[in-house]
Amino acid sequence: MPSSDLKQTLISQAKVIFENNLRQGYSRWKDTIFKFISPASKEYIYQWLWDTCFHSIVLSNFDCSWAKAEIHNLLLAQRNDGFIPHIIFWTGHLFNFPHWALIESALSLRPNTSAITQPPVIAEAVEAIYKKDPDINFLKQVLPKIAKFHRWLLENRDPDQDQLISIISPNESGMDELPVFQVVSNYFGKNSSRLHYIYRKIDLLNKVYRFNSKSILDKDYFNVEELLFNSVFLENCRILARLFLEINDKKEADFFNQIASFGEKSLFEKCWNGEDNIFYSLYSKKENQAKVKTIASLMPIYLSNIPRHLLKLLVEKHLLNESEFWTNFPIPSVAKDELYYQPTNLGSNRIYGTSLLWRGPTWINTNWFVIKGLRKHGYNEIADKIVEKMLKMIQKEGFREYYNPETGEGYRRENFGWSTLIVDLID
Ligand code: GLC
Repeated sequence: MPSSDLKQTLISQAKVIFENNLRQGYSRWKDTIFKFISPASKEYIYQWLWDTCFHSIVLSNFDCSWAKAEIHNLLLAQRNDGFIPHIIFWTGHLFNFPHWALIESALSLRPNTSAITQPPVIAEAVEAIYKKDPDINFLKQVLPKIAKFHRWLLENRDPDQDQLISIISPNESGMDELPVFQVVSNYFGKNSSRLHYIYRKIDLLNKVYRFNSKSILDKDYFNVEELLFNSVFLENCRILARLFLEINDKKEADFFNQIASFGEKSLFEKCWNGEDNIFYSLYSKKENQAKVKTIASLMPIYLSNIPRHLLKLLVEKHLLNESEFWTNFPIPSVAKDELYYQPTNLGSNRIYGTSLLWRGPTWINTNWFVIKGLRKHGYNEIADKIVEKMLKMIQKEGFREYYNPETGEGYRRENFGWSTLIVDLID
């Protein structure tokens, strides 16, 4: 099939998924009509921060006004202080909540949102839209809000002022049960009940501290300068700077460029491990490196300013390494030679009701970041190879939540919103 026909076919499939996952209604909380695409049709029926950004990026390929509406709907939930929650429960119907959502909403002290955030991919989504539809008014409406969110992160989540943001819960990384966070919590085993307990205990403690970032980070029980979050944050500061120039706000552009330069320097100096030739996230005030190789270790590839020699080592020694990340269907969320690597679906847990996620399978959204990065840096052939493998999985298994990195088998939710990101990766 010629590539433009293939793209059109994928766009039609994405449209069907988005239409089926569309939620709308009246919100008493905000006294407004809400309308957004949820990640899937069952259980995942709420609005998630970074899912919405991915959906908008896909939409920018065929319907910019719908893409803009998604961003506007997300920003409706922004707090006055700039914070944007990771989940918005628009209808606030406690009765309909699945088990985990009830916990999330009860924990947050708010019925309509969670009390934690997610990687700030909003500027990236806005730029994708702006490139297709150069609407200055849209930029004027949304940029100050995104800037306010970035400032909230800097003011509340950067106690050591190195321009690297600390997350206070594994879920803030978007990679809920990534093994990095058990290493941080000093548990090196694989018992699934124990793992569930370790991950959720952090959220319970956060509730004790009423989600006050300063107190939590001061206590230091979970203070992670996480690589995916920070690569996204810093690159999105660069994008924000570019977009502010489009509306002639040089002051804001300079501010966000400065933050990005400083933060990138911290990331390249502190997170790089010269022995293993890879990046690791940092944890605690001591800034220890959490030495486990996961997809987050490759995420600095997405940064425009990654030094060439570090990029080369990451690509050649790790991404293309068959015993680590170069599986049949790359890129696994955990390197193959790590003790924790689990390529299959872990299934639900009797007590906690949910699966353990991000323990080895390949996810389309993290691939999207790495592919964007590879193309920025001229590694087009490698990027195309990964896209080719992703297409194979999607054509055979459909748009699943995640896939087995060895067999390509699709797992968990079907017709999953962000797996349509493949649309954005082909011409
Ligand atoms: C899972 C993912 C998270 C995502 C959410 C909704 O919790 O780990 O990143 O935002 O599902 O799709």
